[in-house]
Amino acid sequence: MIEDFNERYSELLNYFNARLGEYLKDIETQPSVLGESMKYSILLGGKRIRPVIMYAVGQALGIERELITPYAIAMELIHTYSLIHDDLPEMDNDDFRRGKPSNHKVFGAGNAVLAGDGLLNTAYSLLFGECFKGSENISAAKFICDAAGIYGMIAGQSADLLHENDSEPDENVLNYIYENKTGKLIMASAIVPSVLASGKYYSELKEFGRRLGLLFQLTDDILDVCGDFSNLGKSIGKDKAEGKLTAVSLYGIDGSKLRVDIIGDDCYTILDGLDCDVSFLYGLVDFVKSRLR
Ligand code: IPE
Ligand code: IPE
Ligand code: MG
Ligand code: MG
Ligand code: MG
Repeated sequence: MIEDFNERYSELLNYFNARLGEYLKDIETQPSVLGESMKYSILLGGKRIRPVIMYAVGQALGIERELITPYAIAMELIHTYSLIHDDLPEMDNDDFRRGKPSNHKVFGAGNAVLAGDGLLNTAYSLLFGECFKGSENISAAKFICDAAGIYGMIAGQSADLLHENDSEPDENVLNYIYENKTGKLIMASAIVPSVLASGKYYSELKEFGRRLGLLFQLTDDILDVCGDFSNLGKSIGKDKAEGKLTAVSLYGIDGSKLRVDIIGDDCYTILDGLDCDVSFLYGLVDFVKSRLR
């Protein structure tokens, strides 16, 4: 069963990386450092979980992969930009990402800001290009823009900074940070295929994506304490060093792990309500949880 999941994950990952490679090879910039710095971070890899979620939900709803691909690429461009900016000295000050020196360590902070800006703008150009296909494509593009924007990921990142070193950590603030900085892009990844399928299982998938996003950030926070560099490809112990408000700072490791189980069960329950093949989506929940093992 697990082998079957791993095989399907690798297949989707390889498919996505091949499409991404084709898309990126046409990007040539002047000065060349702009394109080089953009490609440096995005080609370092990563789990590609957001594209994999999109393809997996698409498969469950019977949507062709080719229709999903532009949205999956746009999502990964936006996610990668968020990581480059997240690592900057003025944000989380992380020297490593995806197992290699962070973008600003290689290209300098100014170029890293521009690499992030370049990835974001490229994503929007790609999304606009899809809008000519029809109204569902416009809605899907708008979902991604809103999830990435000032009522989504950027709001979460802003709150994450604002609440560093809070003297009275607040659960509502933590939930707000989680839902936005991580939850919104993951939720959008689950919703986009539904939007492209005339809204099939929209509310269920929205709730599933929201929960999966919370689960993902919960495990990320736990791994920042219990993980290791060789598996994560990024430094550990940084959240405490930067005074971040995290699940671990609020509930401790055991309390956080308890929440992983509760939210994981919520995800399974939502999937139980869908009348289509959701076995791979179950596997994705397990995959996120299993990162703690
Ligand atoms: C890291 O995201 C940032 C968070 C939202 C926790 P991922 O863990 O998906 O990073 P990559 O893409 O695999 O490198
Ligand atoms: C990052 O959360 C979320 C975004 C990049 C939007 P973290 O700051 O916890 O992610 P890592 O640990 O640096 O990957
Ligand atoms: Mg951060
Ligand atoms: Mg960070
Ligand atoms: Mg983290």
